[in-house]
Amino acid sequence: LDKLKNDQAHLLRQLQQSHATSQANLERKTRVVTIASGKGGVGKTNFALNFALCLQSLGKKVVVIDLDIGMANLDILMGMTPRSHLLELITERKSIWDILEKGTNGLEYLAGGSGLNQLFHLGEDDRNFFFAELEKLQGYADLILIDTGAGLNTESLQCHLSADEVILLTTPEPTSMADAYSIVKILNGHKRDLSFQLLINRVNHPTEGMEVASKFKLAILSFLNKELKIFGALPEDESIKRSVLKQVPFYVANPQGTASVMLKKLAERYVTGEPIVSAESGGLKGFIRKLTRFIS
Ligand SMILES: Nc1ncnc2c1ncn2[C@@H]1O[C@H](COP(=O)(O)OP(=O)(O)OP(=O)(O)O)[C@@H](O)[C@H]1O
Ligand SMILES: [Mg+2]
Repeated sequence: LDKLKNDQAHLLRQLQQSHATSQANLERKTRVVTIASGKGGVGKTNFALNFALCLQSLGKKVVVIDLDIGMANLDILMGMTPRSHLLELITERKSIWDILEKGTNGLEYLAGGSGLNQLFHLGEDDRNFFFAELEKLQGYADLILIDTGAGLNTESLQCHLSADEVILLTTPEPTSMADAYSIVKILNGHKRDLSFQLLINRVNHPTEGMEVASKFKLAILSFLNKELKIFGALPEDESIKRSVLKQVPFYVANPQGTASVMLKKLAERYVTGEPIVSAESGGLKGFIRKLTRFIS
């Protein structure tokens, strides 16, 4: 009987999802945004997770993908133990709906797990299967946020270059800014029209954030002749460290804290100023098409 109930629940879930997908597919465009940094530990994963939760509270459907090869830890920040991992799409021929995990506040995410780099070295059959499953998220989500590791490796480079937009994190520290500069330089060298949003994390004062961001923007403009958008700044906030220890995302653990309040302002602005993704080149389909050229 238990087995039957399980099967029924599974079937219902799949029906709901396929209905949701076919309904939404018609009108929704799925943006793909990657999170990058030069230096490690600047707050990418915390940002990705809490930004996703924040957008979700604003009515956006977000799926977070943990693509930090070797150190996937999105689930840890939510105190979750995922049932399945991204690679099982290939190794066990699971469907995307089977491996989509529900985290804090029902936020859906794809857990990284180990051996992720294998995803980028697939045979043709596996690759086609993987992309076909990933493409099912087209129209299902408004936004796919991809968390990557610090710096660039072949895999993350390919993701950034295929995305609609890269949110680049740095702290005000000169070393972190210098490393962030290198990221823009390298990515820009591969793709001149890649869109960047700059986020300064751990600022001690709002004016510090704006000063650092303007300096960075100016440097990119004068040395690389490139326009960079400023996403904004997030404050240094002790409660973030505590929420990491408690394994509860700060936006949920401390919604009135300075970081949460600022994040909400940034998210509201991001949502209203949402750039239009051209149907031809962008969105999830564009991401997959570009990534297919790399993965072979
Ligand atoms: N705004 C902030 N205020 C205070 N502490 C912060 C803030 N942002 C991040 N931290 C601290 O920095 C640590 C690292 O954050 P996080 O894991 O998100 O960085 P990361 O960029 O994803 O690291 P990695 O490069 O290893 O993937 C957190 O555990 C937290 O203690
Ligand atoms: Mg991280």
